[in-house]
Amino acid sequence: MSTSKFSTVEAGPPIEVFALTQAFTSDTFEKKVNLGVGAYRTEQSTPWVLPIVRKLEAVMAADTTLNKEYLPVLGLPAFAQAATKMLLGPESKAILEGRAVGVQSLSGTGALRVVGEFFAKTLGATMIYSSDPTWENHRLVFLNAGFTTYSSYAYWDPVKKALNIEGMLADLNAAPPNSIIILHACAHNPTGVDPTQDEWKQIAKVMKEKKLFPLFDSAYQGFASGDLDADAWAVRYFEQEGFEFLCCQSFAKNFGLYNERIGNITIVTNDKDTLPKVLSQITLIIRGMYSNPPQHGGRIVAMALNDPEYFAEWKGCIQTMAGRIKKMRAGLKERLEKLGTPGDWGHVTRQIGMFSYTGLNVPQVEYLRTNYHIYMLKSGRINICGLTEANLDYVAASIDDAVRKVPA
Ligand code: LMR
Repeated sequence: MSTSKFSTVEAGPPIEVFALTQAFTSDTFEKKVNLGVGAYRTEQSTPWVLPIVRKLEAVMAADTTLNKEYLPVLGLPAFAQAATKMLLGPESKAILEGRAVGVQSLSGTGALRVVGEFFAKTLGATMIYSSDPTWENHRLVFLNAGFTTYSSYAYWDPVKKALNIEGMLADLNAAPPNSIIILHACAHNPTGVDPTQDEWKQIAKVMKEKKLFPLFDSAYQGFASGDLDADAWAVRYFEQEGFEFLCCQSFAKNFGLYNERIGNITIVTNDKDTLPKVLSQITLIIRGMYSNPPQHGGRIVAMALNDPEYFAEWKGCIQTMAGRIKKMRAGLKERLEKLGTPGDWGHVTRQIGMFSYTGLNVPQVEYLRTNYHIYMLKSGRINICGLTEANLDYVAASIDDAVRKVPA
């Protein structure tokens, strides 16, 4: 009999996406391919530290005026302001009228967690909805933040491999007023399917009529299309429509700053006099959670966004990443079509951003892992960045075999 104080603790389930990375790393098969975790890879299948990031780190290292003092609880003002402006655009009325502010956070996840506590504990919100499916961490973040229920609205149509807009609008219509609705600003994770501008307008209309509160998750601005403005279109539309909303931004993907944990909460209100009170509550949440954020990543982003030359260099980097992804999408589709792989593969290029929701089922995913050492989430989501010119033929032929051998 164990004498440990912890003997009653039961093991929790593994985190699929990180377990997959671990399994891939310990796999010794030469042609193994990791299409799991959402991180950018170069054409050589290696992680990429953006050249602009290397450059700014060198500038920072040489600057002896910089120190390691605590940042304010709400973060580096030069970063939070620039991140907010990047999201809402320089013409934003909310910024010009002093109704929009930014709060530095521990990447997108940390932003969501802080915002979750603000909704659940400060505002007493009880209903929160995300798309079905959504990023698998959303649920855990909001339950940990104090929500006791977690609901979803229809999103993915498995037959059309596209957005189920009728289902989504019907579910939003049925949601109780004041529900918090998580919306992926662009490059929906995991499906890669975004509403069209017309569909966003329909979504906004229902949300306005039903008094639903938008909470945007923006993890891919610029990374999705290579164009910062195009990827922020939905958020800016909601602002123009007069919504109050929050947006959780991550700089993991578009700056390649995955482990620097750098994010921002943009808060847009209709009444600027409410902002100091809101910020004071968020200050207390952060103070009680991690006290204040780290500086390194925030300074890199602030320098890149606030200097026209650095900004242009960074935009070049996001275009490189978005361009390679588009090329790999086209390469995969073309090969599957050439092989005559059963099914329609048009969705691979219609989808946007890091991921493709392939439509492969669990047995097919397992078959690919066992027989070909190709790793992907059980949902059939693949990280397009894991594809390269060198492995495209292999991946396409393996998918072809899985689709033919394992029943759909
Ligand atoms: C992903 O979806 O793979 C990434 O956003 C990594 C993560 O934390 O899940």
